[in-house]
Amino acid sequence: MSKKQVGILGENVLVPTHVGVIMDGNGRWAKKRALPRKFGHREGAKTFRTIARHAKAIGISYITFYAFSTENWKRPKDEVDAIMDLFEKYLDEVRDFMDENIRVRFVGDRTMLKPVLQEKMKKVEEDSKDFDSMTLVLAINYGGRDEIAHAVRSIAQDVADGKIGADRINESLIQSRLYTEEIPDVDLIIRPSGEQRLSNFLIWQAAYAEYYFTNILWPDFSKKDLEKAVLTFSERNRRFGGI
Ligand code: IPE
Ligand code: IPE
Ligand code: MG
Repeated sequence: MSKKQVGILGENVLVPTHVGVIMDGNGRWAKKRALPRKFGHREGAKTFRTIARHAKAIGISYITFYAFSTENWKRPKDEVDAIMDLFEKYLDEVRDFMDENIRVRFVGDRTMLKPVLQEKMKKVEEDSKDFDSMTLVLAINYGGRDEIAHAVRSIAQDVADGKIGADRINESLIQSRLYTEEIPDVDLIIRPSGEQRLSNFLIWQAAYAEYYFTNILWPDFSKKDLEKAVLTFSERNRRFGGI
């Protein structure tokens, strides 16, 4: 659900509570400049920092950035390694966000990540858990189908152990077992780079999301582009099945 937030866009703008961003187009950005793809990822990481801070200024309460999908392991090993190295740097820098009272969370299957990364992720989450200006969520090794399978496995185990009856399984129980647990449904999904698809991002949580697509490649995505997406959202008429 969206609530009225007064950020820099003023009080007449309905700011989405939760925004999802598919950070796409890094490879094409680099290709256009005849640079190796990893340079695009490096530039994309800079954009991430700018946009995360601007989201807070706008008054967005939750923002989830799709950084690496469960399908991205299909890429050449040197590209995957370069992205993983960037995360390690991201993680050190994410600590700066804590000075701004921002809570940091990660979603995705982290068991496949390097132990050092997992430890850093855990530490950042613990150290920032009480911050409340905004929740910044990073989706790393995240896949919506993987998330649902994980939730179903955990519920099935409880049923098998006799802890809950199968008749107790409903939407809110499933929701409570997702990686996003207490994070509200996503209101607005932004995808740059010209692609118009979810690519397995927040498929459960996006049931009633609005979409904003732009041809701009992620490294070129600016604060103004984020404002444009929010202003477009503010004009949409969401009915949630009603009239
Ligand atoms: C998004 O940019 C970053 C990741 C998926 C990690 P891409 O690397 O997909 O960039 P394009 O789509 O090839 O331009
Ligand atoms: C989606 O981008 C995943 C992330 C941005 C992390 P992809 O580049 O992997 O998506 P497809 O393959 O074009 O659908
Ligand atoms: Mg892509």
